[in-house]
Amino acid sequence: MKSIKMRYLLGALALALILALASPAIIHGFWKVRSSNPVRRGIVSARELGCFRCHGALGQGGVPDPGKPDENIPAWNGGVWMMYVKNDDAIRKYIREGTVHAHEHGDEQGGGAGHRGIEMPAYGNMLDDGELNDLVATFKVLSGMSVTPAGSPARRGADLARKWNCFSCHGPAGSGGLPNPGSFAGFIPGWYGADFNDLVRDREEFEAWIREGSIKRLSLHPLASIFIKRQKVLMPAYAELTVEEVDDLWAYAQWLAETSGGSAGELPW
Ligand code: HEC
Ligand code: HEC
Repeated sequence: MKSIKMRYLLGALALALILALASPAIIHGFWKVRSSNPVRRGIVSARELGCFRCHGALGQGGVPDPGKPDENIPAWNGGVWMMYVKNDDAIRKYIREGTVHAHEHGDEQGGGAGHRGIEMPAYGNMLDDGELNDLVATFKVLSGMSVTPAGSPARRGADLARKWNCFSCHGPAGSGGLPNPGSFAGFIPGWYGADFNDLVRDREEFEAWIREGSIKRLSLHPLASIFIKRQKVLMPAYAELTVEEVDDLWAYAQWLAETSGGSAGELPW
């Protein structure tokens, strides 16, 4: 009696699993959570919170400020952050308290409320600690506040990735997660974390991905190859990159894994 019930239960579980696997929405949702990382999450919430409306797309260029002729709201990557924030706590405080906090501390931006056309809003308790930490990680990576050690192979790898603009597909600092219609997971993989570890088992596979645009383990697999052919954005083959250059990119990927996507890298002081 007991074993029949058990068998029924197992059958029902198997059926539920098959149904779940057949639905792309469920697969995509699962992979999205599994491959999530602070930088990727912070970019999504910065978009939702309006940060890029003022600081420009991905914080790469602020809009002109009508309250201060000839001045723009600072781009995150313009080096201006050095005047405002020195460490994680200062970034956290700035996001929670906005421009007022700078006035209180006699920052040169002071001049009283209403003086400027546009000020940094105080996000206060709208954000929980987790969201705030993700935003801090994202800010540090997008602003270039946290970087690879000077002169290291990882630095050369990062420069190379910038030169070829790999980040246009793989996300800022290889954080991944950009949409890829038709692909198995639904997004382009990052260079660290669960998605990377699934797709890159070792240095050899890493090189094959970069120089050939695919790896045999997947391109010859009956199921995986269907998704590889179906996806709309494909990995280009960078056949001209040298072995040394691939070594540098590999060092960069390892640095990303060790520094939580680059957010715990070196600060300039
Ligand atoms: C309404 C426009 C506006 C929005 C929206 C906005 N900011 Fe700002 N932000 C500013 C201005 C203006 C400054 C310049 C500092 C000042 O005037 O006090 C600034 C400064 C900063 C700074 C100080 C360092 C630097 O690079 O200048 C940080 C960090 C920052 N913003 C992060 C954020 C984050 C994160 C968000 C979204 C959660 C955000 N900002 C949304 C206008 C904005
Ligand atoms: C046009 C978009 C595009 C560009 C540009 C691009 N890639 Fe990719 N890359 C992809 C896609 C899509 C995949 C996943 C392919 C698949 O699953 O078949 C991928 C996969 C990879 C992988 C293996 C999986 C993973 O987790 O990353 C590595 C490593 C990689 N790319 C490195 C690079 C490097 C290095 C550059 C720049 C020199 C680069 N890519 C530029 C789209 C791109």
